Amino acid sequence: MKLKSLLNKLASEKELGSIPRPYFNHSVEKKKAFTAEQRAEVLARVGLNVFFFPSEMITGCDLLSDSGVTTMTNEQWAALHMGDEAYGSNRGYFALKDQIRTTFGEVFFNEPGKGEPNAFIFHQGRASEDALFTQVGRLGQNMIVPSNGHFDTTGANIEANRMQALNLFCDELADRDLGFHFKGNMNVVKLKSLLEEARDRVPLIYLTITNNTAGGQPVSMENIRAVSSLAHQYKIPFFFDACRFAENAWFIQQHEHGYKSKQVKDIVHEMFSHADGFTISFKKDGLTNMGGGLFLKADGLFVKKYPQIPGVLLDYQILKEGHPTYGGLSGRDIMALASGLAAVTDKEYLAYRINQVREFGEGMCSRGVPVVMPVGGHAVYVDVDKFFEGTKMRPDDFGGVALCAVLLAAYGHRACELGYFTFGHFDRVKKVDIFPEVNFVRFAVPRLRYEKQDLDAVAEAMRVLHNCRNEIPGVKVTYGRELPLRHFKARFEFK
Ligand SMILES: Cc1ncc(COP(=O)(O)O)c(C=O)c1O
Repeated sequence: MKLKSLLNKLASEKELGSIPRPYFNHSVEKKKAFTAEQRAEVLARVGLNVFFFPSEMITGCDLLSDSGVTTMTNEQWAALHMGDEAYGSNRGYFALKDQIRTTFGEVFFNEPGKGEPNAFIFHQGRASEDALFTQVGRLGQNMIVPSNGHFDTTGANIEANRMQALNLFCDELADRDLGFHFKGNMNVVKLKSLLEEARDRVPLIYLTITNNTAGGQPVSMENIRAVSSLAHQYKIPFFFDACRFAENAWFIQQHEHGYKSKQVKDIVHEMFSHADGFTISFKKDGLTNMGGGLFLKADGLFVKKYPQIPGVLLDYQILKEGHPTYGGLSGRDIMALASGLAAVTDKEYLAYRINQVREFGEGMCSRGVPVVMPVGGHAVYVDVDKFFEGTKMRPDDFGGVALCAVLLAAYGHRACELGYFTFGHFDRVKKVDIFPEVNFVRFAVPRLRYEKQDLDAVAEAMRVLHNCRNEIPGVKVTYGRELPLRHFKARFEFK
């Protein structure tokens, strides 16, 4: 009894301001030691392209991506051992089917032999994009696929099939200081005018949740509803790029009116009830290192409008990936994926995850580094134009690329330019660079991998670099300026 009244008097963990992680380390990997000079030498050798820098030499945090770099739980490791490698209908296939139906809704995975094939497992997200857009691209000429923000591979897969990938960012995104929580929304006004003008040329409408290209910002349920109903009003199927669906649902729960008392799992169901299908890379909110998929809603507008496509997709999958019961994955990977999908909507995990990323962003912000606020779900985005404001850095000096190179060489932290170089292109005819609307360096936080101390070190390194921003030289592109997906391949030199 005495203990009970004492407990009532004591400050809660929340009031203490420091809450322990909802997990502990299961196994650890030691880092090797390297000096800044050693890193600088190797970086110069790989043409300052951080993708080609050996991960073993990263002594700080590797924040190049949050994709496929999750630390798996012990339950996932155990599930992995339970996988069987049968050529047809391995154990994981059934576990995944059940989990997809539980997480997203039964309509997204027909029971084998009942209804059209509507669930296609691929080895990663872009393979499912390739499958979808290869078929959609055959539906007409001069087609446009609008989105709130296409990811680079999604945009590239659309354009590889001779369609235009159009980004309709919402107006609020441009205001870095605005406390609006759903800057990932699609601009519904622009979408409506596009549909008025060109409805016959729009084969489907996409929403990326969360919006990776637009600062990792979430999309509100209100926007999901609005885009879905507009799409359906014009008889156009509505799709998600659903990589970070759980993180998006968490933001809806926390910040959207009417969702506070709802469970994340129920919010996910509501989100997906509006969609006719989705592509997904499970390397994010699947909590796995590999996996992707394409799922079509049974009786949704997509399968009704394009009834020929599911059968063709099935053949395409068999031809390119494997039997539909394993797609592009090994049986053990499917088991780990099913377990990861079950874990990702856990409220302690999500609260910790999103708060970790938020604290990291706020830590940069309090050190004077300009970041997109409020911080999105999986990454902190530094506004490169603001970072170099008042310096001699010009757009074609690709300041974001230079910043990543200096950060990696000096402090051993790897980040990724998502801005003028990644999303821009070189007009071969006019011989000029075309720059996109957004210019960020992204610090993506892998799931369940780093601790506060690690991320504080990155924020501190960025403070130092911001203080000497005048001394950071621009880069010149020595190879690949005119190539598609050039950021993966290009080489640079400091000017
Ligand atoms: C929003 C989004 N869509 C699609 C993809 C592609 O997924 P994958 O890397 O599995 O091919 C990514 C990967 O980072 C992504 O962030």
